[in-house]
Amino acid sequence: MKRTHTCNQLTSEDAGKEATLIGWVQSVRDHGGVLFVDLRDREGVTQVVFHPDCPVYEKAQKLRDESVVEVSGKIVLRESGTVNPNLKTGEIELECSDMTVHNMCEVLPFPLDDDRADKVNEDLRLQYRYLDLRRPRNLNLLRLRHKAAQAIRDHLNSEGFIEVETPVLFKSTPEGAREFLVPSRINPGCFYALNQSPQQYKQMLMVSGIERYYQMAKCFRDEDLRADRQPEFTQVDIELSFVEREDMYALVENMLKKVWKEVLGMEIKTPFLRMHYEEAMNRFGVDKPDMRFGIELTDLTETFKDSQFKVFANVAKEGGVIKAINAKGLSDITQGELKSLEDVAKTLGAKGLAFIKAENGTWKSPILKFLSEAEQQALKEKLNIEDGDIVFFAASKWEQACAILGRIRLECGRLLQARGKIKISPDDFKFLWVIEFPLMLYDEEQGRYVSAHHPFTSPVPEDVKYLDSDPLRVRGQHYDIVLNGTELGGGSIRIHQPELQEKVFKDVLKIPADVVESRFGYMLKAFKYGAPPHGGIALGFDRLVSILTNRQSIRDIIAFPKTQKGQDLMAQSPSPVTEKQLKDLHIRLAEDE
Ligand code: AMO
Ligand code: AMP
Repeated sequence: MKRTHTCNQLTSEDAGKEATLIGWVQSVRDHGGVLFVDLRDREGVTQVVFHPDCPVYEKAQKLRDESVVEVSGKIVLRESGTVNPNLKTGEIELECSDMTVHNMCEVLPFPLDDDRADKVNEDLRLQYRYLDLRRPRNLNLLRLRHKAAQAIRDHLNSEGFIEVETPVLFKSTPEGAREFLVPSRINPGCFYALNQSPQQYKQMLMVSGIERYYQMAKCFRDEDLRADRQPEFTQVDIELSFVEREDMYALVENMLKKVWKEVLGMEIKTPFLRMHYEEAMNRFGVDKPDMRFGIELTDLTETFKDSQFKVFANVAKEGGVIKAINAKGLSDITQGELKSLEDVAKTLGAKGLAFIKAENGTWKSPILKFLSEAEQQALKEKLNIEDGDIVFFAASKWEQACAILGRIRLECGRLLQARGKIKISPDDFKFLWVIEFPLMLYDEEQGRYVSAHHPFTSPVPEDVKYLDSDPLRVRGQHYDIVLNGTELGGGSIRIHQPELQEKVFKDVLKIPADVVESRFGYMLKAFKYGAPPHGGIALGFDRLVSILTNRQSIRDIIAFPKTQKGQDLMAQSPSPVTEKQLKDLHIRLAEDE
């Protein structure tokens, strides 16, 4: 098949030439005997004309939208007045003299123009994902994704990195997210786990002496899915030897600078802002603050510690905190909106969501009667309460109070944006490093310390001395890169001394010696054979592309994404398998319970 041009190539300069185009029929219009077909390929659209005396006229009359045709004919200038200035090919048309129909399209399950297709149920679009992707806008998203990947590869290649593929069939290491297990036919009763990330392999590559590794790595996690989570996703996975945190910041900043430049033609400013974890939590209530708008948290523990309002005073006495946000201009919140904010707070364990609304010179609040004059005055000053504002409170343990107001802040941001009171430009990109995380968290349920990230993160050297006495005081050499309220990536300087790694596993995380040996024994051993100091990071590539292209969901920028239920609606997976397949894998399904 020989096309002479793409559908985005021919201009007035080509008038008089013969051309052959192949593409999809975007539309057929009958203008009183003359047929106009908009022919589309991945590059653009060209108008094709069929006059009644053309030998394939009758064939053209039967064309259905989205059929694939090959047309040949002469390029002619359009009559003035019918020129389309919005198309690159808008000055010409192809006067068809011959046509081959390569594939006649059936009636479409949904219209493919963006206006109407955007309103179609996502499940139907995913069932026919190949049609959904055919829409130029969606095809373009894949192109942008490719461009971003290219920019990343170019950058890392130029910095001396080597791309190495690591196994997808790994072993089960149940410290992180829930894993997908793969039964081994030739090792009955044994399972691989699909890798959650190439973390351990990339560290082994450092011991191998690769020095600078990267991989566009497929990762698998059996998690509950959300708009920014898929069961399989891609990481830009990076690891280097002989690095410190500052080297990592510079590397990632320069890489992202290049991506934004190549894909959007935009200059982003470096170095990025840095914020300590504790400050991020205190000011924004999360470790991944969206810095595109204000509404920061204010601490009121001092104000309420001796209050007559026992709900607050008691929390303060028990070592908790009282925090508040002022959602400026949101006093017109509806009852329904208020109720859903309360519900959000409750899902995070809040007992209630006290508020004060300032309207027409008075305050309305279910807690106003409990607050003294002095307390009201203090609130007014600390929170700068003015007419039109609404203030929300959370009284709880520090982490919980932060988390509740962090979420309420985001919801208020959304409500204010919908009202046009907060304006966020689509090319506002607020990058941020969140640093100085604690190395450990205390897990109440398990009654033990757990790694805040993963157990390979190196403690900050000056804090190693507290590992035994006060693990919560130890900071990790971890860093997160955050963009517009999304955790884009995270990484750390790693432990490379076997003694320290073993201590973290056994003494701090309290993993029994035999379990350490069976899960991580090979790593501890490797670290005894010349392990270089090393560190790395992984960026969620799907998240990066979805923010870059201003999409709400990472599903939009993944060719064949899974639904919230983890299903591929097009290929219909997951699906049952035969008895024979199960038998070969030494698996028997449990009877229905
Ligand atoms: P982490 O678990 O933070 O770190 O993952 C790194 C980044 O991967 C992205 N990500 C996801 N994207 C889509 N769907 C998911 N289910 C999903 N889960 C994670 C996020 C996240 O920031 N090995 C370490 C990195 C390291 O220490 O070098 C790791 O995997 O954007
Ligand atoms: P109560 O006295 O329990 O009815 O609470 C009075 C108001 O405070 C109600 O509006 C509750 O929703 C709210 N409230 C109760 N506990 C908390 C808390 N821990 N943090 C914030 N607001 C709360």
